[in-house]
Amino acid sequence: MTNSLKVAVIGAGVAGLTAARELQRESHQVIVFEKSHRLGGTWVYDPKVESDPLGSDPNRDVVHGSLYKSLRTNFPRQLMSFSDFKFEEKLYDDPRINPGHQEVLKFLEDFATYFKLTELIRFNTLVTRVEVVDSVINSFVVESETNGVSLVEVFDAVVVCNGHNTQPRLAVDIPGIETWAKRQMHSHNYRDSEPFRDQVVVVIGNGPSGIDISREIAMVAKEVHMSSRSTHFNLGKSDKFDNMWQHSMILKIESDGTVIFQDGLSVEADIIFHCTGYKLHYPFLKTNGIVSIQDKRIGPLYKHVFPPQLAPNLSFVGIPEMSFTFTIIECQSRWIAQALSQKVSLPSEDEMLFDVEQYYQELKEKGVPEHRTHYIGFQTSYIDWMFGQTGMVLEKHVKEMFEYFNHCLMSGGIDGYMDVFSHKYRI
Ligand SMILES: Cc1cc2nc3c(=O)[nH]c(=O)nc-3n(C[C@H](O)[C@H](O)[C@H](O)COP(=O)(O)OP(=O)(O)OC[C@H]3O[C@@H](n4cnc5c(N)ncnc54)[C@H](O)[C@@H]3O)c2cc1C
Ligand SMILES: *[C@@H]1O[C@H](CO)[C@@H](O)[C@H](O)[C@H]1NC(C)=O
Repeated sequence: MTNSLKVAVIGAGVAGLTAARELQRESHQVIVFEKSHRLGGTWVYDPKVESDPLGSDPNRDVVHGSLYKSLRTNFPRQLMSFSDFKFEEKLYDDPRINPGHQEVLKFLEDFATYFKLTELIRFNTLVTRVEVVDSVINSFVVESETNGVSLVEVFDAVVVCNGHNTQPRLAVDIPGIETWAKRQMHSHNYRDSEPFRDQVVVVIGNGPSGIDISREIAMVAKEVHMSSRSTHFNLGKSDKFDNMWQHSMILKIESDGTVIFQDGLSVEADIIFHCTGYKLHYPFLKTNGIVSIQDKRIGPLYKHVFPPQLAPNLSFVGIPEMSFTFTIIECQSRWIAQALSQKVSLPSEDEMLFDVEQYYQELKEKGVPEHRTHYIGFQTSYIDWMFGQTGMVLEKHVKEMFEYFNHCLMSGGIDGYMDVFSHKYRI
């Protein structure tokens, strides 16, 4: 017999929409709380930027989105699909294999309409508190606010899908940065290259955003100096841009504003641009220490999803980073929905906890820093395992595509991977 529960989903981005769909399939009663007036989360482009370009002033008005105007997906659309609702079959205005962000939003809106998810969403409703109230009855209090009116409700289960690309994580361990008196910005507040015109820019961080944005900036800036911790980039001048250099890490910043790199070179920069990623942020979560966050590690979470002590009633969707987000979100959501209806069973609390501890231990032995706990990489083992829990199998051709993408990343490098991929998988 299925067990129909009253479930709160927080957020109506990719994760919240997918979780709602899977929960609905399992006949749970779902309410999706969404603070914004529309669905799509990250994929809703917001031209507004925050008053503090670094995004660190706690009193600023927070803008959720981090997309910039010209952003194209860094994955091919085939890898931003759901198993039964495929992006590559839904062409709108932009047929490119890695389309502009508008296309993803349209796809998500279609997804929500097709699976009748929109009617489950309470828009303009901010969740301010999720609290485990009574360990005997095992339910959750969810407090929310709509147009200044607050409401307290009780749910059997809560699925947290509030995203993790909004609160900048800054490079703070650079000697001298605290005395830097010129401009600084985090990529969260980047929309277009205009503020960088004729400027000498130092970009910290070499992730996908750092690389894509640096190229855009190089078209208008005087000089772009990229600095990264990573060791697998060739140092020196770029082959493609005459005004762009790759450096090692910043050694220090002098009080006159000169930035000195570990490779011995130095520049007099006008602006320091942080492309250093984001922090995890759950201001509403009150679990009495059952779940805690430390430098991008949220835990303990069994398989990045369930806190063992509250499983399956509290769960998190979309925590893994640097991986195939859409598919991961789909297999996690299905697992959660079926665990709640008791179609699948989870290991005991102790076993789950042991699994997490073992995972932390492995990371430690490999020298992986804590902030990379949820970087799971572009392999399919996590997806295979998770789909396996609900009896699903990743389709063979999709799995091959994932593997081929990973191969392209490794061989084509961050510059050329999309060309290599689309050569084989043109739509
Ligand atoms: C610049 C950038 C580029 C990216 N490019 C790609 C790409 O090419 N391909 C790819 O697959 N992924 C990409 N990603 C990853 C992207 O984060 C995922 O695709 C996906 O959007 C994550 O969805 P989510 O639902 O977890 O979070 P979000 O999309 O952030 O959605 C969270 C939702 O929760 C709502 N919310 C938050 N707090 C509350 C609250 N307290 N109460 C009520 N509602 C709340 C927000 O308003 C939002 O709608 C990119 C991310 C960024 C930042
Ligand atoms: C999860 O919720 C169900 C339904 O309310 C309850 O019976 C169960 O005890 C809860 N489990 C935990 C671990 O809190």
